Amino acid sequence: MKCRVCRGPAVIDVRRHNAAFCRDHFLAHCTEQVRRTISEHKMIGPGERVLVAVSGGKDSLALWDLLQRLEYDVDGLYLGLGIGDYSDESGRYAREFARSRNLKLHEIDLAADFGYTIPEAAAATRRPPCGACGLSKRHLFDQVAMERGYDVVVTGHNLDDEAAVLLGNVLRWETEYLARQHPVLPARSGFPRKAKPLVRLAERETAAYCVLVGIDYIVEECPMAEGNRHLGYKAVLNELERQSPGTKAAFLHGFVDRASPRFASAASEHSLQTCASCGAPTSGEICAFCRLQSRVRAQ
Ligand code: AMP
Ligand code: FES
Ligand code: ZN
Ligand code: ZN
Repeated sequence: MKCRVCRGPAVIDVRRHNAAFCRDHFLAHCTEQVRRTISEHKMIGPGERVLVAVSGGKDSLALWDLLQRLEYDVDGLYLGLGIGDYSDESGRYAREFARSRNLKLHEIDLAADFGYTIPEAAAATRRPPCGACGLSKRHLFDQVAMERGYDVVVTGHNLDDEAAVLLGNVLRWETEYLARQHPVLPARSGFPRKAKPLVRLAERETAAYCVLVGIDYIVEECPMAEGNRHLGYKAVLNELERQSPGTKAAFLHGFVDRASPRFASAASEHSLQTCASCGAPTSGEICAFCRLQSRVRAQ
């Protein structure tokens, strides 16, 4: 196996690009994929302040590293979700990365700052934990970005994540979700812009990137995600990809480029008001985050 660029010994092959790379050219390839994604979707403008949501996992730490390489002004945000040892350990990886590079990491702890943990929220709502978790994460990413003057929030969602979500949305024809599934969502009153610069990199590539750069990350997945539907969709897509490399990327990028505009009319346009409790934009009187908090408190 030889590097596509320099013909030296390759350390990784990327079958969907029909290419193999040595260490340095693989890192350059990943950087170029992210640069192109940011530029194609106008994710970050010149001089803008970026907030990267870091979970301590491979994707978000690779993203933080890549954005620094691309010379963006980028700080981190870690949320302590209170998921036992998993949260303690993931926080240590995020902090250690920031410390070793002298980067700024904001931290919010759900239990200390808001009086609940994800397992408690899941018990109170009697729903799968990922619902309360996703809701809390989205709310806090937005809130921290708005309060601290960031122009855009970026997350480490990769090609595998986004293709699995797309498959789930297509299987159930969730047209409203399809209308909103895009690598970048523009800012609206009270919400920052949101972007996913890793949609051109697969999970295996962000893991290889971290190993080759020497980034330590938490390898375990969230213990509460077990049995989550998306894990099944990922397995199906991996099998399709094995049979025909490039399927996942064609599925996701074909949707973004050619199909997603056709769902635009399905996006509901709720008129927004301010949450009477926390001030966040919401379609009701009290936002979903504050309602979740009071439900857990009432337990
Ligand atoms: P997940 O929903 O766990 O697949 O994570 C998707 C993305 O959300 C990650 O790549 C991070 O950017 C962000 N994220 C997940 N968990 C956290 C966390 N505890 N704190 C900050 N950001 C997170
Ligand atoms: Fe949210 Fe596991 S990371 S439920
Ligand atoms: Zn090379
Ligand atoms: Zn609220």
